[in-house]
Amino acid sequence: MEVPKYIGAFRGRDFLNTQDFSQDEIKQILDAAIDLKKKFKSKIQTPYLPGRTLFMFFYNRSLRTRNSFEAGIYQLGGHAHFISPQDVYVPTLPEDMVAYKTEAISDVARVLSRYGDAIAVRIYGDAAKWVLGRGHRVIEEFARWADVPVINMEDDLFHPCQALADIMAATEAEPNLQGKKFVVSYAYSGGLKPLAVPQSTALIATQFGMDVVLAHPKGFELEDSIIEGARENADRYGGRFEVSNDMRGAFEGADFVYPKAWSPKQYLPPHGKTVDKDGASAYQDKFKDWITTRELMDITNKAYYMHCGPADRGQEVTGDVLDKYERSLYFDEAENRLHAQKAVMAMIMP
Ligand code: CP
Repeated sequence: MEVPKYIGAFRGRDFLNTQDFSQDEIKQILDAAIDLKKKFKSKIQTPYLPGRTLFMFFYNRSLRTRNSFEAGIYQLGGHAHFISPQDVYVPTLPEDMVAYKTEAISDVARVLSRYGDAIAVRIYGDAAKWVLGRGHRVIEEFARWADVPVINMEDDLFHPCQALADIMAATEAEPNLQGKKFVVSYAYSGGLKPLAVPQSTALIATQFGMDVVLAHPKGFELEDSIIEGARENADRYGGRFEVSNDMRGAFEGADFVYPKAWSPKQYLPPHGKTVDKDGASAYQDKFKDWITTRELMDITNKAYYMHCGPADRGQEVTGDVLDKYERSLYFDEAENRLHAQKAVMAMIMP
């Protein structure tokens, strides 16, 4: 078997945030993902991680992330341990940073490092007590103590694996992304959602030199550090970044739209004094008109519709857009999770 050059290219590195990787490095991951996707479709075996073990901590439920990681490591010749949410104690920080009721993350990370080859963690929302940044700090704590790479499977600030799959789908649809108008928009949902996806999307789209418009009602601002990061990316990579409070105005002439719900952070610590879920829901309910419809898609520049999934039908987006819109990347993004994550594992785990 010929082993591709990208295997082990980023050996030992964590994958917590796309910002930890340069544009060139992200492109290397995407090239590997495209190679793995081609081989998968041609039924060519890719056992590049024989006997390797991935430990997956899911503090939250998942369809795409769990199954794409589990199928992915198997397709690479390794296997995954799924660590069930019911078995995992919700950590409080910083006093008792524990992964199980009786074990500190520092202990769990060091034990698992002796059994396997990478640790992946998902933690946000209730599992992170809705304190913005707490989920990310849990994953950083795993990374601090683990002797093996740690992968972020979505926390309350970042969803880097989703961002990789998304930019891969965008590149497949439109090979030259430079200067394309990419709209990251709030879309209504009755549920509370983390800021991870819009934040990682704004970062990766600016990292690829796109003209990014972040559209949301007042009160749905992303974290200041993300806005700064997106502006820096735009300067570095020759794109633009602006914020708008007008969904329709943002959609006009867009090449890509990514309308997605997230929560108003002033109802969540550290921005609010306490977690006020009722206040957040009541505030969100003022913006039910932030829904993606066919009529709205028709004012774009034949934009590609994007969403990480699961999309809330009838709230974030109408069923006809989700089911019938001809330039939807919804299922391509989900599909690419498998190959983008295989690329990450194949590059960091050997
Ligand atoms: N997009 C995403 O992470 O989906 P799941 O919640 O199904 O894993």
